[in-house]
Amino acid sequence: MSRPTPTRRPLSGEGPVILHAATDPRWLPLALERFDEVLVDHAHCEKKAAANALSMLQAYPDLPGLPAQMARLAREESAHLARVLDLMAERGLTLTKDAGDPYAQALQKQVRTPGPERRVDRLLVAAIIEARSCERLSLLAEGLTDPALARFYGELAQSEDGHQSLFFRLAVTASAGDEAAVRARMETLLAREAEVVTEVGLRAAIH
Ligand SMILES: [Fe+2]
Ligand SMILES: [Fe+2]
Repeated sequence: MSRPTPTRRPLSGEGPVILHAATDPRWLPLALERFDEVLVDHAHCEKKAAANALSMLQAYPDLPGLPAQMARLAREESAHLARVLDLMAERGLTLTKDAGDPYAQALQKQVRTPGPERRVDRLLVAAIIEARSCERLSLLAEGLTDPALARFYGELAQSEDGHQSLFFRLAVTASAGDEAAVRARMETLLAREAEVVTEVGLRAAIH
């Protein structure tokens, strides 16, 4: 079976994570049509990204560089959350209960159990979620007609691109610098990610 051609959309990231499959072209029109729903989901994504950064800090305080980087990341993701909440308020939207993210949940299931493998997998899953988020936010930046909103999503996409690199570098550190092993594991996770994106289907959500 031939593998889909690795793909990278404009603005979707300069980092080391190269997604195996581009987003279905039907996603953007759906997301633009139901943008208010996407915005609420986006707020939850930023909240989970901030919480995940602190959870990493809690779990792996001894990985060199991780505590300071996760503290900064939590602050940055919280700032994204605050900006999305402001946008929601401008549109008269309120935050509803988090309905969960089947995409992220399916990827978390790929995390292996033994401690060292678990640490690398958690970092790589985070890197992959950042890469897919970067792609989707870039698509929104290209598709939104409101210039301020388009600029906002362009900025966020760039920021998430930086985060995928950050998590990838930490995964290499967690593997004692064995970048080849980390890349091999990442390819396995990326192959699963391409399946998960298809299984989850089209949603008025970031993933
Ligand atoms: Fe973010
Ligand atoms: Fe991020």
